[in-house]
Amino acid sequence: MESPFKGNILKGKVALITGGASGIGFEIATQFGKHGASVALMGRRKQVVQSAVSVLQSLAIPAIGFDGDVRKQEDAVRVVESTFRHFGRIDVLVNAAAGNFLVSAEDLSPNGFRTVLDIDSVGTFTMCHEALKYLKKGGEGRSSSSGGSIINISATLHYTASWYQIHVSAAKAAVDATTRNLALEWGTDHDIRVNGIAPGPISGTPGMSKLAPEEIDSKARDNKPLFKLGEKWDIAMAALFLVSDAGKFINGDTIVVDGGQWLSQPRH
Ligand code: HXC
Repeated sequence: MESPFKGNILKGKVALITGGASGIGFEIATQFGKHGASVALMGRRKQVVQSAVSVLQSLAIPAIGFDGDVRKQEDAVRVVESTFRHFGRIDVLVNAAAGNFLVSAEDLSPNGFRTVLDIDSVGTFTMCHEALKYLKKGGEGRSSSSGGSIINISATLHYTASWYQIHVSAAKAAVDATTRNLALEWGTDHDIRVNGIAPGPISGTPGMSKLAPEEIDSKARDNKPLFKLGEKWDIAMAALFLVSDAGKFINGDTIVVDGGQWLSQPRH
């Protein structure tokens, strides 16, 4: 679908996207690139990162990729520094890296719980922490008049309770708290806007294929007249809006992009 935004709204900006080589992260990278940004992708799988970079370059988007794990602080430091060295600035950080699997609380080991918190929550904080010196007003490569912005990809499942998702619910609740607290501290001190996006079920993502095999998916549709799948594009458009000047007064919010689903109940 064609973007409703002008093609130059991110002209001159540099965005670093974790989990940027696949799923929602890759669509955000693509749309940022199509709207003028240069993009750096971070992902754990070297081959996947390399082929994602090739796709972006074939679209004439200035792109570079780094393999790294957001759970490792040294990887975070290396990727953030390399992005800065390559492009000379960092304006936007998108934390889209996430881990997930379906398991009952009874069967989940504490290490399984910790693993998802390490990726989603601690990983998000680590990336923000390491990117701060480049994103803050007057920081490296920046003028003293404006800071950059951060988008944290969240979810809606912790607004209520979700079967077999105790680890992800806890992790995304921590992500939302991190979004609000950084918005307060870094918005005030450093002119950095920090926002989140909470996607509903999005077709063609690793999350959908892991969490909703096809048969569950069609059953859910039968039960919920409101149910429809979103597209990765929908999330990327929300991200574009938030990081562009159109979102300049939005700070500390997590925008739900789910077609109204989390608040709906099946019709009786
Ligand atoms: C139970 C499991 C498990 C499973 C792993 N564990 N998979 N427990 N059921 N299916 C446990 C392991 O037993 C181990 O605990 C601990 O978790 C760590 O497992 P590892 O395999 O060593 O972890 P690792 O190789 O680092 O892989 C991390 C991962 C994996 C999260 C388990 O799935 C991953 O890398 N995912 C990244 C891609 C991804 O999931 N993307 C989808 C995001 S979707 P023990 O105790 O045995 O040592 C998303 C949407 C959210 O985020 C919102 C949806 C609505």
